Amino acid sequence: MDYSNLKVPTHVAIILDGNGRWAQERGLSRSQGHEAGFENLKNLSQYIFDKGIKVLSVYAFSTENFKRSKEEVDFLMNLFVLKFESYRKLMNKKGIKIVFSGERREPLPQRVIDLIEKIEENTKNNQKGIINICINYGGHSEIVNATKKICKLVMENKLSIDEINEENFNHYLFNDLPPVDLLIRTSGEIRISNFMLYQLSYAEMYFPKTYFPAFDSDEFDKAIVEYTKRDRRFGGINYENKDN
Ligand code: IPE
Ligand code: IPE
Ligand code: MG
Repeated sequence: MDYSNLKVPTHVAIILDGNGRWAQERGLSRSQGHEAGFENLKNLSQYIFDKGIKVLSVYAFSTENFKRSKEEVDFLMNLFVLKFESYRKLMNKKGIKIVFSGERREPLPQRVIDLIEKIEENTKNNQKGIINICINYGGHSEIVNATKKICKLVMENKLSIDEINEENFNHYLFNDLPPVDLLIRTSGEIRISNFMLYQLSYAEMYFPKTYFPAFDSDEFDKAIVEYTKRDRRFGGINYENKDN
């Protein structure tokens, strides 16, 4: 689809959901579903940046996902380690910076933490766009973490309480990114599941039934078309669009 005359969102966030059900429908294992999901993320994220979107956040593994079987958690952690290196090369070619959001401590394995830090360091000068990969991420954990950082600065007399405001609070989150314009959750679930609670405050939301491995560029185009039809008022009134 041609995006040139469209008002594209700056920041798109996607909850990558439905890998397991996608696999189950095809008589495959959940692991194969996660592999297919990762392949799709590789293709879809390139498409999204080619269309001029500047920031893409993806929910790959939540703090709550550690409740899953050891087998599934281990498989996903190994998948990250196995696939991220080639993904880094791909994003470097496109000039995309890779950042990660989430707690960098147990139960996240040290080998994943090391890789995350290596990838961030290696892509930090890229300027064309940002992919924010959320692993061991929770919206509550992010807000609590930010609060602790702020308290520490206040106690050290490096920040006064009066200086804290809605603009600079963002700076203490895992990454200082613009607010989310469009949230997509695949697989038909209509909930947030602890994702980017602070950044989603005025996001437009889109909940397609498609499972993530099948959510391709055509499906993304549909999300954008829907987004362009939304009247984003931010609490005000768009007098030009008013029909009465
Ligand atoms: C999303 O797919 C990927 C992760 C949460 C890691 P799911 O694994 O949640 O797939 P379903 O929801 O069981 O189909
Ligand atoms: C949300 O999906 C987390 C990720 C996609 C990483 P889940 O499949 O874990 O969410 P719930 O359990 O259905 O809310
Ligand atoms: Mg799920």
